[in-house]
Amino acid sequence: MKNTDLIDRLLKNRNLTDEELTGVLLCDDLKFNEYLFEQARKVREEIYGRDVFIRGLIEFTNYCRNNCYYCGIRRENSNVLRYRLSEEEIIACSDMGYELGFRTFVLQGGEDPYFTDERIVSIVKKIKEHHPDTAVTLSIGERERESYQKFYDAGADRYLLRHETADKSHYEMLHPSDMSYEHRMKCLKDLQEIGFQTGCGMMTGSPGQTIDNLICDLRFIQRFKPEMVGMGPFIPHHDTKYADHEPGNVGMTLRLLSVVRLMLPEVLLPATTALGTVDPHGREKGLMAGANVVMPNLSPVSVRKKYQLYDNKICTGDEAAECIRCMSERIERTGYRIKTDRGDHVRYREGCENDGK
Ligand code: 5AD
Ligand code: FES
Repeated sequence: MKNTDLIDRLLKNRNLTDEELTGVLLCDDLKFNEYLFEQARKVREEIYGRDVFIRGLIEFTNYCRNNCYYCGIRRENSNVLRYRLSEEEIIACSDMGYELGFRTFVLQGGEDPYFTDERIVSIVKKIKEHHPDTAVTLSIGERERESYQKFYDAGADRYLLRHETADKSHYEMLHPSDMSYEHRMKCLKDLQEIGFQTGCGMMTGSPGQTIDNLICDLRFIQRFKPEMVGMGPFIPHHDTKYADHEPGNVGMTLRLLSVVRLMLPEVLLPATTALGTVDPHGREKGLMAGANVVMPNLSPVSVRKKYQLYDNKICTGDEAAECIRCMSERIERTGYRIKTDRGDHVRYREGCENDGK
């Protein structure tokens, strides 16, 4: 068994050497893992108590101009039944979500040119007009700084853009040459400078990923200091060149969640749908390893199965109300409870210098 002193030191210094971090990430000793998860939980509870924040996910378009090699809805996959929700449908989803208790909506989609800056601005403004006490998170990929600024000025509060990998050559292996590592990084920097609560993140076990890549991701996360980090296992999609690649490891994903929690105690960390897909209790395990956010799906059931980034995605058949009931039961069994508010990062809470943004 590995020495738990290592974890105590990570807790105290919020840091370890590359070699030590490698040791932590690769150690699947049960006692060691339990100790790691316990420390991550303690740190999370000191800051966010036993609350779990819920975000209503609206997958509003599966059109995408990109062709990320790992992704099921990439441009060149002609087997995808493409859809986009109308502005009215998106607003209706958020109204229904509001009734169910959601105070954050995440608008997620492929990079769909139909949704011009003006269309996104109009949707953000309408949601904020209908429900001024909600936060709007955008997750619509790479745009130019001017566009991001328009979204922010329209009232969008947060932006999720996973960096996917902080290693340039690994990035180039996962993406075709019309995408660039530099632009991805520039987008993240712009988002942060504009004032969004910003989320980056990566998959665990993505094709070609080495342990050194993950250390590189952790170093990037330490430098960038995002408000949110989205991490889930890679899961193969049958219509991609990685169809036969093995999925990411649950234990590794959980250890990464704990390590990120210990490095950035205040970070908002989702227990992702991908984690719940590779393990039936993955999301609960994520919460027990330091995660404090879940993102139930609010998209109309008629389109759920069409937003398949990877195979066997869970929760594609249930109505939102059913999803949230199932989610709350699962959360309560872990000893945590759903919190119905915007669930801002502590630095962005109302009354703070950032004016509640
Ligand atoms: N497995 C797991 N996660 C995936 N994503 C895309 N494709 C897959 C896959 N095959 C993740 C990416 C992206 C986010 C929206 O979903 O990290 O940023
Ligand atoms: Fe566009 Fe993945 S290729 S969302």
